[in-house]
Amino acid sequence: MRECVVMDLKREERKYHHLEHALREQTGPKPAGWSDVELVHQALIKGNADSIDTTIKLFGKTINFPLIINAMTGGAPGLERINEALARVAKETGIALAVGSQTAAVYNPGVRHTYEVVRKVYPEGLILANVGALVKPEYAKEAVEMIEADALQLHLNVVQELLMVEGDRDFASLYENVVKIKEAVKVPVILKEVGFGISRETAQELYQLGFTVLDLGGAGGTNFAAIELARNPQEHLDYLRCWGLPTAISLLEVNSLDLPFTVIASGGIYNALDIIKALALGAKAAGMAGVLLKIYDRYGEKALLDFLNSMQKEIQYLMLLTGAGKMEDIASIPVVITGYTQNWLTQRGID
Ligand code: FNR
Repeated sequence: MRECVVMDLKREERKYHHLEHALREQTGPKPAGWSDVELVHQALIKGNADSIDTTIKLFGKTINFPLIINAMTGGAPGLERINEALARVAKETGIALAVGSQTAAVYNPGVRHTYEVVRKVYPEGLILANVGALVKPEYAKEAVEMIEADALQLHLNVVQELLMVEGDRDFASLYENVVKIKEAVKVPVILKEVGFGISRETAQELYQLGFTVLDLGGAGGTNFAAIELARNPQEHLDYLRCWGLPTAISLLEVNSLDLPFTVIASGGIYNALDIIKALALGAKAAGMAGVLLKIYDRYGEKALLDFLNSMQKEIQYLMLLTGAGKMEDIASIPVVITGYTQNWLTQRGID
């Protein structure tokens, strides 16, 4: 063990707390913005829904449809069961899977199996490692090797850290550290938020630092301010529940830069329509976390599998309805932006 056991116990306890609170509710109050994004129906369609190809290539591997089961868990005894089930579902549906933050296993090898299980279950799968952006570069490398990851998610979770009594307060080395991590690992590095979104300014700076893959983790789904406030009520900081960029806005902000980013849209993605809207706004794929966990917890693995299988079919239907014959066509289907989101874009000078 590299640090004191007390710290590891706290970390393990936190893993259980996050799951419990994420399952209870803790979404909103800010919507992700998809209701402000309208797709245009095309009545004169051509093609056959069942033969529309929904596969995409991501980090060198082909997945059956553009979805990542996003980072959630691992790192404490018993959590391997959830990761194992998520890996089985990802394998059966042929989609990608990210594990939760692996820092716990770097400090305590006794919980490595809670992450390693995903590679055992899904040896051919597109699997993403996950650590915080402040970890030592050699720990990030260890996380990648632990699960033979195809890419590494580096999470930026400043709001969450500030709300945790035991959270980080010193981010002075963040810029330097993410660059060092990028140099230390051999796989693509994804900069990922956890529910507060990535702005145009942040994306621009990340691009200058050499990062071209972003997971937006926007507001509108799982709300880590609400989760931390439920774990540790701090009424004076209650306004942080409403902090952050809704996912649709984050996506429009990043795309307005016109830089060659690969963008994963996540945060408040609930269904196939949200995914198509995200792709129409320029995302390469979408990520879903909290809602999948809830389905698994309440209705079981089979229900989660059915939900995802249905989603692939629905993507085909929606492609037919919008006249997109191929995945690449989705990026150019007509989109109408309304309401709050349009107002935001106008004030930010984004057309
Ligand atoms: C998360 N998320 C997360 N993200 C991350 O980068 N590392 C992590 O360890 C975790 N842990 C975690 C635990 C639980 C229980 C949940 C529900 C979520 C954040 C997750 O990957 C995602 O960015 C957000 O949840 C937003 O997506 P949804 O939940 O709105 O689809």
